[in-house]
Amino acid sequence: MTRVTLIRGDGIGPEIMEAAASLVEATGAPIEWEEHPAGASAIAEHSTPLPAETLASIKKNKVAFKAPLMTPVGGGYRSVNVLARQELDLYANVRPARVFEGVKTHFDKCDLVVVRENTQGLYAGIEHYLDPKKETAQAIALVTHYASDRIIRFAFEYARANGRKKVTLVHKANILKFTSGLFLRVGQEIAEEYPDIVFEDRIVDAMAMQLVMFPERFDVIVTTNLFGDILSDLTAGLVGGLGLAPSGNYGEDTAIFEAIHGTAPDIAGRGISNPTALTLSGAMMLHHLGYHEEGKRLEAAVRGVIAEGKHLTPDLKGSATTTEFTQAVRARL
Ligand code: NAI
Repeated sequence: MTRVTLIRGDGIGPEIMEAAASLVEATGAPIEWEEHPAGASAIAEHSTPLPAETLASIKKNKVAFKAPLMTPVGGGYRSVNVLARQELDLYANVRPARVFEGVKTHFDKCDLVVVRENTQGLYAGIEHYLDPKKETAQAIALVTHYASDRIIRFAFEYARANGRKKVTLVHKANILKFTSGLFLRVGQEIAEEYPDIVFEDRIVDAMAMQLVMFPERFDVIVTTNLFGDILSDLTAGLVGGLGLAPSGNYGEDTAIFEAIHGTAPDIAGRGISNPTALTLSGAMMLHHLGYHEEGKRLEAAVRGVIAEGKHLTPDLKGSATTTEFTQAVRARL
């Protein structure tokens, strides 16, 4: 049995996790859940959104399956997601974006993966006010050779392991000559070690435009934290939106799998949320754990139900409930 830490989260979290965890089980993979709280729902009992036992469980099991957590805007506690990624040093955020048969988008061809540096850059949360009246604020974009090297190497290794042909490094080195410049320089050095993979670079603004004009030109994209955050939501939009987009956060030996989307407070508790993104994150988790056949079957079953179009949730213009969608996927498994 492989033990996995399971976090049901906030908002629609518990209902999509119920669906996704049951579908992971239905593949027959020998997974045993160890459930722990996190997010707003953990505060009442534990007085913290990230209880020590939850973190300890992830460190012990080295893999977690996590539903979205609520983060207060502009104040309150820091994002548990960012905190957990930093605590566990989950430096690589991997977000595949492949078109779905049956989901109408502007493009027929898009099959790419964004590899985002997850611990540094402007997004690292190193910020403060410079005056007592809080009228001047400053954030620091920390970029190191070490962190750039390991994320770019991760992207090349990912490309090799998954039969992908090209890595595009995205930066803003024309303006941010030190931080983005360092990231680009490290990429150019590492690319020489991977002659079998094509390497190119793009400035982030040009990349945003090219992605919405020719997404089929891109394969593996590697970039710093904030650019990766924005571009990976953009690529999720290219293939049908946040409700369909899975992700994995990887460290040296620990990984957390989660949907990209948030807690969807507007539809929480109505039983109509789409569990696809979290279920596909579960398929990524199965691959990570070495259950490749189960991971492939789970993704194929989800894609099959979406292609058939009979049991779609309202976000995909259908009228199925979360439970009906889940039953249709289970039937295909
Ligand atoms: P959101 O992703 O929760 O919702 C955006 C829109 O997408 C809403 O209309 C929602 O109904 C819809 N949506 C999202 N997931 C869906 C699904 N599975 N099925 C059907 N519709 C879906 O983004 P929002 O409203 O900005 O954030 C809400 C909360 O989620 C915030 O507290 C935020 O901090 C948190 N959040 C947590 C994340 C995580 O834990 N990884 C990631 C992003 C946001």
